[in-house]
Amino acid sequence: MLILGIESSCDETGVALYDTQHGLLAHALHSQVEMHAEYGGVVPELASRDHIKRVLPLLTHTLQQANKSLSDLHAIAYTQGPGLSGALLVGTSVANALAFSLNIPAIPVHHLEGHLLAPLLEADAPAFPFVALLVSGGHTQLMQVQGIGEYRLLGDTLDDAAGEAFDKTAKLLELGYPGGPALAKLAEQGRPDRFKLPRSMLHSGDLNFSFSGLKTAVLTLIQNQAAPLDTQTRADIAYEFQEAVTDVLAHKCLLALKQTGMSQLIVSGGVGANRRLREKLSARAQQAGAQVHYPRIEFCTDNGAMIAFAGAMRANHNMIKESAFSVKPRWDLADLNPA
Ligand code: KG4
Ligand code: ZN
Repeated sequence: MLILGIESSCDETGVALYDTQHGLLAHALHSQVEMHAEYGGVVPELASRDHIKRVLPLLTHTLQQANKSLSDLHAIAYTQGPGLSGALLVGTSVANALAFSLNIPAIPVHHLEGHLLAPLLEADAPAFPFVALLVSGGHTQLMQVQGIGEYRLLGDTLDDAAGEAFDKTAKLLELGYPGGPALAKLAEQGRPDRFKLPRSMLHSGDLNFSFSGLKTAVLTLIQNQAAPLDTQTRADIAYEFQEAVTDVLAHKCLLALKQTGMSQLIVSGGVGANRRLREKLSARAQQAGAQVHYPRIEFCTDNGAMIAFAGAMRANHNMIKESAFSVKPRWDLADLNPA
């Protein structure tokens, strides 16, 4: 079965072709990061307009890359939510119009299910069940994953998401948007032991997170330094901030494995691209006799491949629900669980 996947929930237009026998055939992405950078964040109306411009050329390019045509498709998967409603409507409308004209099913996909299943696109894919850390700009969640569509929330952030904390702290350090990768890069020049920031909820005993206090602590720290901050000071703050976030994330992942009795962890979402997080998780999991799986770096952030794959899994498991098309800007992943 050949599935086309379309992602347009935020600031990336992603298109991909997944074949249930031969795997991922082709994928293409357009990132709007440069367009939004001058505004310091995503401007929803501009995002929608840009998706409209990009989606069909990307689709043509992806089909050409895989040497396929529209008539080869068996289904079209698209991100139905959560995300920006105008942006979601672009992918949703294109997917449903195409599916209607080709007389094939359109498969609505939950964006986070896409992230969650992205590590299964890799050669060393884990088998179910596993614990998943979903760590992106909008989410910081630990889930117990029993199978496709069977997700139990183990822990969540009580305030800011980890990626949001990276982005806000990067702004305080005048690193622009999106801040996560820039902050991680600056942290490489940072020195340990100069500053100390809090590891919020490290010993709370549960699997929840809180990152807003950390952001406030960075603000106070900056205000206590001589202005303007020199590059080394900014790097030292970035270093300690990254240590604080990754210490808490790694600790709670290991705790989740222990509490569920599982030995496999998958990490996905934009912050999953963070090298320091990967180093810590791999080292601690090895000590605990567990395995960690990641998507390749380019599939940590938003992409069409994860949507095509999640759609293919849903089609394989006969989990496609016929419906008039709609978008779900707010959508709880646990709503996917069988009743
Ligand atoms: O999954 P994603 O592309 O979009 C959402 O669904 O949110 O994640 C984007 C988030 C942003 O907050 C970005 O700053 C963060 O992931 N991010 C990183 C890194 N790369 C992306 N944070 C830390 N280190 C990175 N290397
Ligand atoms: Zn995402």
